[in-house]
Amino acid sequence: MALLEVENLKTYFYTLRGVVRAVDGVSLTLEKGETLGIVGESGCGKSTLAWSLLRLVPPPGRIVDGSIRIDGQDITKMSESEVRRKIRWRRISMIFQGAMNALNPVYKVGEQIIEPMLLHGYSKKEAMEKAAELIKAVGLPTSILDRYPHELSGGQKQRVVIAMSLVLDPDIVIADEPTTALDVVVQAQILNLMKKLHWERKMSIILITHDLGVVTELSEKIAVMYAGKIVEFGTADQIFQNPLHPYTQALIRAVPRLKGDIHKLEYIPGSPPDLRNPPPGCRFAPRCKMAFEMCDKEPPLIEHEKGHYVACWLYAKR
Ligand SMILES: Nc1ncnc2c1ncn2[C@@H]1O[C@H](COP(=O)(O)OP(=O)(O)O)[C@@H](O)[C@H]1O
Ligand SMILES: [Mg+2]
Repeated sequence: MALLEVENLKTYFYTLRGVVRAVDGVSLTLEKGETLGIVGESGCGKSTLAWSLLRLVPPPGRIVDGSIRIDGQDITKMSESEVRRKIRWRRISMIFQGAMNALNPVYKVGEQIIEPMLLHGYSKKEAMEKAAELIKAVGLPTSILDRYPHELSGGQKQRVVIAMSLVLDPDIVIADEPTTALDVVVQAQILNLMKKLHWERKMSIILITHDLGVVTELSEKIAVMYAGKIVEFGTADQIFQNPLHPYTQALIRAVPRLKGDIHKLEYIPGSPPDLRNPPPGCRFAPRCKMAFEMCDKEPPLIEHEKGHYVACWLYAKR
């Protein structure tokens, strides 16, 4: 049994202007201690998928179909209080997109780190000890616990937010765009820190990013998400050495390389579709250079080689 098994998950937002199909039939599995990267442009449903895994989809959104099993237990069927007691932060936690800028300005860092522990039955002394241990684990001096968020640099704030995701020793940490607001040097430091935590704590990490360059560092497996669906899934080697989906190929061409000709860098024309009214058939077809008649129909996700899946008619037996 895998640690996490997501099957045919659908999470929609019921807005006044229509139903946004933000996550529309996503399946994936994560083994214990594994690292998974989820990549795709902004607006493809990555954050909605992450919120779903914590059962924290904001209204007017909700999970409408599918299952999310952690050690075989379907959390979509649990009551909110059961999720709160057994799952959220304990089994699976999250570093929210932009969280470092959402630290409460009026409380000291230490007070913010211990709060969830106090809510989960730690004594103040135990919580303070744990906070000190975690702040060291993320590479900060314990004096930071006595500081206010505005006294910290961006990189330090992001480390604090990472420490906060670890307070209840989760098996899975989801990091949603954890390096996006940071400069490249600090980005590399944060990724190294996550790699170190992954090894030391044997935890699984789901790293969400719009930047394929970022996942290479940390992800054994990669899921490419487009318009609410996973269009390609495989090991990092499979995805980088043998990208199959035209969307994945375009994302790779859009990663700036240190060496090589910057002018060869390509961007992907157009933008992801409005998820209230996505194109019928393959959702990438309107932007795809390879599109042909078949693409009017929705391509199934098929296993092209062992462990390497793609949803594209170029590879399907017709
Ligand atoms: N609270 C919300 N209400 C309505 N629509 C939302 C809400 N949050 C996200 N969406 C929509 O869901 C889609 C996916 O968004 P999101 O999950 O944030 O994508 P990503 O993280 O890949 O950028 C977008 O079309 C977005 O507008
Ligand atoms: Mg997002």
